[in-house]
Amino acid sequence: MISIWKGLNYKREAVAINHSANCILSGPCTLADTDKCNRMCPSYVAMHGYAGDGGRVGAAGLPSEYRHLTVNNSPARTGQAAAYTVVDKYVDTFKTGDRIKSLYLYSAEPGTGKTTTAAALLNEYLTAHYIGCLQRGETPLERPTFFWDVNEFQRDYNAFSRPMVPRETAEPAAARYYRTMRIAESVPFLIADDIGVRDATDAFRADLHSVINRRVVSGLPTIYTSNIPMAEMLRLFDARIADRIRDMCGEVHFVGKSKRGRR
Ligand SMILES: Nc1ncnc2c1ncn2[C@@H]1O[C@H](COP(=O)(O)OP(=O)(O)OP(=O)(O)O)[C@@H](O)[C@H]1O
Ligand SMILES: [Mg+2]
Repeated sequence: MISIWKGLNYKREAVAINHSANCILSGPCTLADTDKCNRMCPSYVAMHGYAGDGGRVGAAGLPSEYRHLTVNNSPARTGQAAAYTVVDKYVDTFKTGDRIKSLYLYSAEPGTGKTTTAAALLNEYLTAHYIGCLQRGETPLERPTFFWDVNEFQRDYNAFSRPMVPRETAEPAAARYYRTMRIAESVPFLIADDIGVRDATDAFRADLHSVINRRVVSGLPTIYTSNIPMAEMLRLFDARIADRIRDMCGEVHFVGKSKRGRR
């Protein structure tokens, strides 16, 4: 009899230990790896949903491979000591209540870990927002942060703005495009992934600028990732708004060669 109970307890513990790896709250959570750590935990459901692909992480639009990233477990930390010194200090500002600045993650070389780091920052913000709200007795926002894939946004733009696009293709793309734009211009914390689009029409660029202008005017922080230097990107903005972006934004350089395909 005793051995059966031992077996059950062991099994229950094993399930619990595995489960914490699925939750971005596992670092700060005091219940992580206890028998209360399972997929019915209200905070797990709030973050990841009942099926594990929803909740606030799902609403943030993060690609699935980034959903459990934190700045501590980020593979991009390796070889980016200088960038992660800045990133670690930056994450602390999520908890202090000080005004959160913007960051521009830059490397000319692709595959250096900019998007990975931006995704980890999104998860850190989400965690800090959720825990901070609970501590203050407030209801956490359903979507405090959003991953804006600028390349995908441009693909949607092209899908409805080319001549002779069939209506059944154009309409869903246009609906997605304008819905994304509304979210990107107003969400409290935005990742603008791959902002340095080349080959953009004037009309598409005007939409990009409109999103960024609105955020800057409202003092909302943004993490940009880009393969073009911030100074070059800012030349595309009018001087007044470029100054305001520069004032509130730190540029972080990612170094070395592409790590793509290493894992
Ligand atoms: N230091 C690292 N060690 C191991 N793998 C890494 C490291 N940095 C990044 N990677 C991996 O390399 C791949 C590319 O990273 P990521 O997409 O973040 O690069 P990026 O800088 O955004 O690239 P791009 O400029 O093309 O957008 C990912 O699979 C990521 O996990
Ligand atoms: Mg990238």
